[in-house]
Amino acid sequence: MDTSNQTTTPTVLLIDDERMNRLIVGDYLRDSGYAVLEAESSSEGLRIFDNARPDIVITDLRMPGGDGNQVVTRLQNVAPDTPVIIISGTANLEEALCMLREGASDFITKPVREMDRIKHAIDAAMKKAHLHRENRLVKSALEDAIQQQTHELRDLNAKLKNALESTVNALGVIVAQKDPYTAGHNDRVARIAMTLGHSMGLSRDRIDTLRVAGNLHDIGKISVPGEILNKPGRLTQEEFERVKVHPETGFEILKDIPFHGPVAEIVLQHHERYDGTGYPRGLKRDEAMLEARILAVADIYEALTSDRPYRQALPHEQAMAHIIREAGKQICPLCACAFIAANKSGVLSAIARNEHIENIADHENTHP
Ligand SMILES: [Fe+2]
Repeated sequence: MDTSNQTTTPTVLLIDDERMNRLIVGDYLRDSGYAVLEAESSSEGLRIFDNARPDIVITDLRMPGGDGNQVVTRLQNVAPDTPVIIISGTANLEEALCMLREGASDFITKPVREMDRIKHAIDAAMKKAHLHRENRLVKSALEDAIQQQTHELRDLNAKLKNALESTVNALGVIVAQKDPYTAGHNDRVARIAMTLGHSMGLSRDRIDTLRVAGNLHDIGKISVPGEILNKPGRLTQEEFERVKVHPETGFEILKDIPFHGPVAEIVLQHHERYDGTGYPRGLKRDEAMLEARILAVADIYEALTSDRPYRQALPHEQAMAHIIREAGKQICPLCACAFIAANKSGVLSAIARNEHIENIADHENTHP
């Protein structure tokens, strides 16, 4: 905190074209303990100010070659903390108020009958300037502290986000190890879902939630025995029921993790179908979240165009035909439209496989 004004002799710059006034006021100020610099015009006063940086300026208003208001205006720009006191014998009340609005600290009329009036004005102006300076320093220190804390919070958030991402990736790796046929499936579902979300104009946050949910949508399969997941043939009803639990298991695993979006709920709903034939709750139409409906169609498409233990991949065109056929039935029509729109860009076909299977719906329902 700057305390120089409290510990050193304050310097006053006195600007007045009348020598007698400078003499009277100057002597009084020196006798009162101030160091005094004198100038006979505003231009000379400003020059001295620039060189000597006095603590306070007292200036006449009317002077040949430049008025005192120039001093006020200039100091407001270059040294707003330096008080300027106007002493004038000619100004009216309106001019005085105007000078105060411009930034003058005080206004004293000449002739000065009580010289103590000047000392009081100086003391009050310097005290006020000192308070202003301290306030500014405190404000600046506060702003620095807030900025520092904001940086730290941002860093902490980034670290937490990274930790969460690492956890998500680790969980994905665990599932992929248990079910190697789905290795890469989660990533492709996530990318397809993000493409659809983008095509539907979803916000960046919602698209990112689709990415996370896509990567984790089958996390619940961790509780399904590997021999069921990797069974080459048709599942028995009992086995199928075991697999059907995976959205709820996934929800239980994810529900307490502080994701940015409703990842656990989307995972819970990713096997719901638009016509209510899905599971676990048989949600119809928009009873399931839009993100879950997007993920569902991405999951269906990716499953159809991938090789599985129980069948070969379907060509992209046939998978697309299936999506179009099921639009409004199992598949949300809005999502099917987004699929068709996204397909035009060629992004989706890059994921597709080129081999053929006979009965799409049968395979889609045999292995969830
Ligand atoms: Fe699934």
